[in-house]
Amino acid sequence: MDLQYTILTYPDPQLRQISQPVEEITDEVREKTLALFPAMYADNGIGLAAPQVGWHARVFVVNVTGKPEDELAFINPEITERSGGLWSFEEGCLSLPGIRGKVKRERKITLKGTDLEGKPIELSADGLVARCILHEFDHLDGILFIDRLSPAKRQSIKRRLRELEAEAAV
Ligand code: NI
Repeated sequence: MDLQYTILTYPDPQLRQISQPVEEITDEVREKTLALFPAMYADNGIGLAAPQVGWHARVFVVNVTGKPEDELAFINPEITERSGGLWSFEEGCLSLPGIRGKVKRERKITLKGTDLEGKPIELSADGLVARCILHEFDHLDGILFIDRLSPAKRQSIKRRLRELEAEAAV
């Protein structure tokens, strides 16, 4: 299987679908998950969720440094703890080219899920890794970071959103 993903962009309605849990971690699931990494690197991303490539499974990958040892892949993740207060930081998204904006998120999180071998994993993260995990986790529920912008910021990106809508309509 040679998977070449295309990353879906706003306003593709598939980005708004709720993703479903993976029932069984098969070789196919492993391959489809691992193929998210090259798709993410090709666009200089630090995270990519399965629904962004049209695969509506609760799967995402993260790598905030780009180093191979920092690759993280999560299947059926759940955020079991959020703490440390909110902090604001500028985000972007491979599905929203040309848009950036500050989003408030919790500083620390604990995530439970399954790894590619089907083993349960638990991870505590803070800072950028926590932020990236929360951003990707949102994708599994059809939430985009633009939904979390301040009303003023949301107003300021309206023109760019219309441009993306126009490009998609062609
Ligand atoms: Ni994103």
